[in-house]
Amino acid sequence: MDTEQIRSRLKACGQDHILEACEKLDPARRSALLEQASRLPLDSLRELIDSFVLKGAADEPCTAISPAVVTMPDAALAAELTARGEQVIRDGRVAAFTVAGGQGTRLGWGGPKGTYPATPVSGKPLFRVFAEQIEAASIAWDTPIRWYIMTSEANDSATRSFFADNNWFGLPRTQVMLFPQGMMPCFDRGNGNVLLEAPDRIAMSPDGHGGSIAALHASGALEEMSVLGIDTISYFQVDNPLSSVIDPLFIGLHSDPDRSSGEMSSKMVPKRESAEKVGVFCRVGERTQVIEYSDMPESLMTEVDDDGRLRYDAGNIAIHLLGVEFANRVFEENELPWHRALKKVPCFDLETQSKTTPESPNGVKLERFIFDALSLVSRPAILEVDRSMEFAPIKNATGQDSPESCRQAQNDLYGDWLASRGVDVTRDGNGHVLADIEISPLSAMTSEQLQPEDLPAAVGSDDRILI
Ligand code: UTP
Repeated sequence: MDTEQIRSRLKACGQDHILEACEKLDPARRSALLEQASRLPLDSLRELIDSFVLKGAADEPCTAISPAVVTMPDAALAAELTARGEQVIRDGRVAAFTVAGGQGTRLGWGGPKGTYPATPVSGKPLFRVFAEQIEAASIAWDTPIRWYIMTSEANDSATRSFFADNNWFGLPRTQVMLFPQGMMPCFDRGNGNVLLEAPDRIAMSPDGHGGSIAALHASGALEEMSVLGIDTISYFQVDNPLSSVIDPLFIGLHSDPDRSSGEMSSKMVPKRESAEKVGVFCRVGERTQVIEYSDMPESLMTEVDDDGRLRYDAGNIAIHLLGVEFANRVFEENELPWHRALKKVPCFDLETQSKTTPESPNGVKLERFIFDALSLVSRPAILEVDRSMEFAPIKNATGQDSPESCRQAQNDLYGDWLASRGVDVTRDGNGHVLADIEISPLSAMTSEQLQPEDLPAAVGSDDRILI
């Protein structure tokens, strides 16, 4: 696109202010700004602004809703599904996929979230936690499990340096692929204009975890998977060290044609209480989808069944399996909706020619969510799992879903593992383990795999146990 084309396309979508900004710049900075503008989604920008920035997506009325169908396998079914899933893994058909492009603003950690020290005794960073699981699974099922990691423009080079500095956590370099996700411009919430963050730079932000579909495609990862015979993507977030990165039971369920169409499957945990701020898997008409807590009518949120259990309690923990064919289809159909988030976006004011740091949300960021793909699935499988075994995210600096709550969850889980092997474990009045305990998947992926010689005689209050 030449300069004149860029100019006329910016005008066509009402972004003349970028041209005004250009007038004040020297030629080099002007062409940098125009070059950045040329990479905006100019074909759809006007429609995005009108449909999502200025008014937000149309609120679909919550009608024809019923609880999602959830699978809770008994022991016999679990064994059958696990055996099926193990075969799929052994056949080299599964890849791990971490979404790590988020900004992590709530935690406020200086680097990429995956570099955060997350384990109670040795302080392993989240990336190492997953790397060890991938190594252990590759050994257990005798196949090199490929690991794809989505970064963002903001943290891509820091993430790559971290992997290089840590020698790729002992994994063969060729087993890991990092790629950045797409970016979207930030918009002025008042007039919908694209915001500038500097006189010669447009304010951009990552396009949400749903951007992973386009990023998997753009990076060549989907194509590579097809070439390698990988048909299943095990999707998890960077902030949950309890994610079971390669879970044979879940994979077995997803790949069982009697129970799933093999397009997309998800894990759920029962909500802690009706007001817990998680999305909920629901049936809407013939389709399964996640309804965000902010969109769920209070009456449904609190509805209970005859046993007093919340009817809508299937909490989304952002662990999914995606078929490679399905991911290609979602990319081609390009149907994931945009969600509008009001944010404080520091920006450059053209009138005053100065930078402003807003005290209240002045901007709109547009993001896609991966769970929206679920509504495109004909027969998804939703697996109920135990929160204490699979979900302890690090989101906030303190309180719920913080490093402290995650540490306690790990200690409690591994305390349970040791107790199940006959070790006496000291707990407080609420049943929480008092010691710090850490078990590497390279030592044991389940409590049954713990070697007798690794078991401590007992675990007291101040112990630090590393296995
Ligand atoms: P969160 O919704 O918790 O957002 O992301 P965040 O950006 O990490 O944190 P806050 O909200 O700024 O505090 C959930 C998961 O999705 C990934 C994150 O890296 C995390 O693993 N994610 C989120 C992306 O990969 N890209 C995005 O654009 C957004």
